[in-house]
Amino acid sequence: MNGSFVSFEGIDGAGKSTHIEGLRNAFAVKGRVVTVTREPGGTPLAESLRSLVLNDSMDAMTEALLVFAARRDHIVRVIRPALERGEVVLCDRFTDATFAYQGGGRGFDWEVLSQLEQWVQGAEVLLQPQLTIWFDLPPGVAAARLASARVPDRFEAQPQAFFEQVAAGYLRRFHADSERFARIQADQAPELVWAEVLAAVRQKGLLS
Ligand code: TYD
Repeated sequence: MNGSFVSFEGIDGAGKSTHIEGLRNAFAVKGRVVTVTREPGGTPLAESLRSLVLNDSMDAMTEALLVFAARRDHIVRVIRPALERGEVVLCDRFTDATFAYQGGGRGFDWEVLSQLEQWVQGAEVLLQPQLTIWFDLPPGVAAARLASARVPDRFEAQPQAFFEQVAAGYLRRFHADSERFARIQADQAPELVWAEVLAAVRQKGLLS
């Protein structure tokens, strides 16, 4: 596949959105076709699953299966076709979020998640982003940011201890595949964070 696939991760409140928009513009200026999308979501079916996952109570396995079902539809209908056309896909969260939230946060079995990842993303090769930008924010700082936010969903309503577990999940994924990640301290001024985002993308040769 000739396209460029970048995902964006971090605990709730880490401030991904403005940087995703910034990168959309940076790629567009270079003449690239850009799809900005999100998980769970990105297709009508996956968006329906998103609203269930964010609003209905369920156990950790159900949650994991629903986010992977949403991901499958998203990959088949949107991500793979765009990458095969050589386009840019900027995805607000991908599988690292499942390991962090369902694995770390909810305590669901890491090995089962790895198997689901192989099933859902594997064909000949495992589909992974070329670059994952991880907005790493201390859970205490994120909690303060979220306190002033809109009506919280099922995840945003969780106590800080949950986000400590989520952050530990991200750290574990980072250590397992650190070449893929750009770990950015997200409690700096936004323009400093943005400079690091741009540097990470350029370093991967994706904006040249
Ligand atoms: P988020 O990406 O924060 O969007 P918004 O900023 O619009 O609220 O919301 C998605 C939520 O879904 C977030 O709390 C993390 C959670 N999530 C999972 O639990 N597992 C997953 O696999 C994914 C992709 C997201």
